[in-house]
Amino acid sequence: MGAGALLETHIPGREPDARGKVRDLYDLGDTMLIVATDRLSAFDWVNPVGIPDKGVILTQIALYWFDQVADIMPDHLISADVKDFPAPFTGHADQLAGRSMLVRKCEMLPIEFVVRGFLAGSGWKEYRERGTVCEIALPPGLTESAQLPEPIYTPATKAESGHDINIHPDEAGRIIGEALNAEGAAAAIALYERGRSKAAECGMILCDTKFEFGLYNGKLMLCDEILTPDSSRYWPADGYAPGGPQPSFDKQFVRDYLETTGWDKNSPQPPLPDEIVDKTRSRYMEAFTRLTGRRDL
Ligand SMILES: Nc1ncnc2c1ncn2[C@@H]1O[C@H](COP(=O)(O)OP(=O)(O)O)[C@@H](O)[C@H]1O
Ligand SMILES: [Mg+2]
Repeated sequence: MGAGALLETHIPGREPDARGKVRDLYDLGDTMLIVATDRLSAFDWVNPVGIPDKGVILTQIALYWFDQVADIMPDHLISADVKDFPAPFTGHADQLAGRSMLVRKCEMLPIEFVVRGFLAGSGWKEYRERGTVCEIALPPGLTESAQLPEPIYTPATKAESGHDINIHPDEAGRIIGEALNAEGAAAAIALYERGRSKAAECGMILCDTKFEFGLYNGKLMLCDEILTPDSSRYWPADGYAPGGPQPSFDKQFVRDYLETTGWDKNSPQPPLPDEIVDKTRSRYMEAFTRLTGRRDL
């Protein structure tokens, strides 16, 4: 476990081609190096303080899952071993080990393949107001956090601001083409179902999750991170009680803390106090240990 949080990678002579909210991205032509830093975003803003090892924890969870779903869909991973990385990266295990993936660079589809098995977040909000999620009608009388009769594909697009906008599956079909949308939706549901049943064996409920797919030689490929607490909503199965919100395995402490600070969600975030950082790190570690059965990173 590293001493402090890694907020940015610094490879001498090589700037990242992009820094996302969480990942530093290096474009290597046909491949890409994706480095998960310890940055944490909440309400679309990155906190000035990082969560030590968060990038390692999330990368290890994603790698675990790529292995578990390999029969459902090919994924973008080439190697997560720094020894396999090209120069100048291979000499920087101190920054990159455990948190980096060398991947096939894909043409990303502009749709987030979200699957929901339970009602929470923006899905619950829309259902409460209109009885639908992504304009898909659902049975009446469902409560917050209730299980849906079956998992549903509830796609979203990324607006310029970075906010996700929920759309009807037909709209996703108009954007990326019906055939790709149908293939992606079926794969996303199969991936969610695998994730949900494995998570259940670990005492966790996989409420919902988001996949990103890309095209590689014209074929769909599973990209980004998968089934991590940042891309998914996990709940502890013990104590699950529909009818209200459930404790989640990610940034709940951060969101709750920020709500107490009077921050306007429209300017840089106040730095997280040590106590919130520690609790958040423990929560990510708990998800890692429950899912993978490993105690050490
Ligand atoms: N195999 C891949 N090929 C090309 N782009 C990818 C691949 N896997 C993930 N990406 C993209 O890399 C970026 C990951 O960085 P991230 O920090 O998540 O950025 P963001 O703030 O846009 O979510 C995302 O934009 C994701 O779509
Ligand atoms: Mg992302």
